[in-house]
Amino acid sequence: MIDLHCHILHSMDDGPETLRESVEMCRMATLDGTTTIAATPHFNPAQYPRTGELIRERINELDAALQLENIALTIVPGADVAIFPDLPTHPGLKNFLSINNSRYLLLEFPHFYVPQSWDTFLRSLLGTGTVPIITHPERNYWFVKHPKAVEQAVQIGALVQITAMSLLGGFGNDARKFSIHLLKRDLVHVIASDGHSATMRRPLLSEGVKAATALIGDERARELVETIPAAIVANRPVRIRQPRTLEEGKRGWFNSLARMMNR
Ligand SMILES: [Fe+2]
Repeated sequence: MIDLHCHILHSMDDGPETLRESVEMCRMATLDGTTTIAATPHFNPAQYPRTGELIRERINELDAALQLENIALTIVPGADVAIFPDLPTHPGLKNFLSINNSRYLLLEFPHFYVPQSWDTFLRSLLGTGTVPIITHPERNYWFVKHPKAVEQAVQIGALVQITAMSLLGGFGNDARKFSIHLLKRDLVHVIASDGHSATMRRPLLSEGVKAATALIGDERARELVETIPAAIVANRPVRIRQPRTLEEGKRGWFNSLARMMNR
């Protein structure tokens, strides 16, 4: 599996504080079946003005530690980019903010609202050739209250990432229910850990994938941690499924019921 959103680098943000903990998280992730992690520290020019050099430096340090410990895990660079007005023209956009220097960028909205012209913002970002991956809308209060907006964002051309722990109820019932809603409508393209530590928010995917499999089947669940993330890391175009509208979702449910009754 490939984990596209993980605060695996130490002393960068609210992720691990030491290299030791970073290595511990990597060990945990490999035992869980992860082979590649995108190291995505927070980026926000006001609070976390990280540079590409620092991210690369930390990755080199972690790579060396992983080699010493015989942990086979590939770390690729990235960032968890908080939305800010100048992002479409920020020099980091074409330099170090995207995942593995690809066209794909993790984009985090504030937790309680989205900026009024969020759709225009997505379009301007796409206009620069960057494909935003909206991180965990199931944990954003506004998106939860405006579920159609996620569909609209996907229509505009954005991708959507949910957090594995959301599916397990780790972020509350609303986040769990909304992540299920999105999954069932094929409005999720990536499941990631958004791991922050070796104890509280761990870099694990398998339990979340198991929950997703129970909801949408093995093939669709695997796409979200294997095929699609692999295309993103390799900067290839991503083939996404056509989102199902709410009505189609209901019809799907009705058809399943009809099938059961016809047995
Ligand atoms: Fe994050």
